[in-house]
Amino acid sequence: MSSLRWLQASHRVSDWVFRHLTCMNRQYRSATHAEIVQPRLDHFKALSRLDRDLLVAPPLKYLEKLQKVDHSIATNAKIAADIFFHGINLVNSHHPGALHVRENDCQGFATPSDIAIVRATIRQFYRDWSEEGAVERNVCHGQVLKDLSAEFTTVADRSQVRVLIPGAGLCRLAFDIASSGYSTEANEISYHQLLASHFVLSRTTSTPSRELYPFALSFSNHLSREAQFEKVLIPGVHAGTVLGKMPFTSAISSPFSLESEDACLTLNATDFPSEYGGAKNRGSFDAVATVFFLDTAPNLLRYMETVHNCLKRGGIWINVGPLLWNCAENGPGGRREGDIDDDEACKARHCNAFDNDGTPMAKLEFSEDEVLLLLEQYGFHIEKHDICIGEVGYIMDPKSMLQNLYRVSHWVARKL
Ligand SMILES: C[S@@+](CC[C@H](N)C(=O)[O-])C[C@H]1O[C@@H](n2cnc3c(N)ncnc32)[C@H](O)[C@@H]1O
Repeated sequence: MSSLRWLQASHRVSDWVFRHLTCMNRQYRSATHAEIVQPRLDHFKALSRLDRDLLVAPPLKYLEKLQKVDHSIATNAKIAADIFFHGINLVNSHHPGALHVRENDCQGFATPSDIAIVRATIRQFYRDWSEEGAVERNVCHGQVLKDLSAEFTTVADRSQVRVLIPGAGLCRLAFDIASSGYSTEANEISYHQLLASHFVLSRTTSTPSRELYPFALSFSNHLSREAQFEKVLIPGVHAGTVLGKMPFTSAISSPFSLESEDACLTLNATDFPSEYGGAKNRGSFDAVATVFFLDTAPNLLRYMETVHNCLKRGGIWINVGPLLWNCAENGPGGRREGDIDDDEACKARHCNAFDNDGTPMAKLEFSEDEVLLLLEQYGFHIEKHDICIGEVGYIMDPKSMLQNLYRVSHWVARKL
């Protein structure tokens, strides 16, 4: 049903990328067991006989807990398997036989930090596609939808309104905007997120079909064992049912992206400033919405130029989120969004970031008031600003004894 067309020039790069992605997803189960469960088994074995007997016996049944972790890993691994299975099919349906990845090909291909990225992507399904994740979504996505509706209240045909979502993650916000009738383009730099979005948007059934244990791999701050093994079902909403058809039936690529037949939803896997900062997308969008994205910028000035470039004159930039600049400096203690994995994924994205010519990337950090001053400098007029529209976590277990909550700021700026 979906289609993908590679540009010939990018074929070799894409082949490597897909091989890498496949290996990462394939190795999720064994690598996660080796990293999370095996060391705990080893520590257990190192205990005295007396201690071991105490822990194995009821009521604690400590080994049962580790078995449950393994079960959770195996369950989450089914999602990883879905992502790579449909990813490979997507590629091979357009380039028959292009991708054959045997188990042996994966030896040594995926590093622990690669696997951490897969884990972070899978946990992201909690935030974007479980009913339980609505707690986090409602504050942020709800605000964006409210702003769009206020801005385009008099527009008879919303499909004429083009909205861009940079850093779209697993595309739930993009999907919600598209299903409200706007012509929506999701931009995301991570191929993992793109393939995971492809799976959830176009390859799931109308009933929530996948089980996910979002918090099972983290051992701290659980009030009960049940809380650690809390299960959610995804997807809480079925894209095909809401939109009337599965979204992706044709595609464009650079190196690749997916586009729905009626162009109501496009997924574009590229670097935001590179793709939207040039002539190709100049003055193309009526609105840009960024959620938990601004602080991913190594150089916010590039993001500002880029939004200014791709917005039409009079278009609006809606922003919701905190300012957790470059996670590397903040470290796990500063980020800790429920699990160390996020920090690993973040480090992989931001640490050691170099420009194309090999020079280290700028790393700029600003306070909220400085961001607003810069917006004015870049030709925007701030029309709304709320220093806090709510306190929300990011893939946060609401029952955890540790609640890392962001006081989420919101502003709307208009391009003059
Ligand atoms: C903190 S996540 C937020 C995702 C989503 N907006 C949400 O609220 O859940 C930031 C996202 O921005 C993406 N990202 C980071 N730098 C990017 C870039 N230069 N171009 C496009 N996407 C980028 C990351 O891959 C990640 O998915």
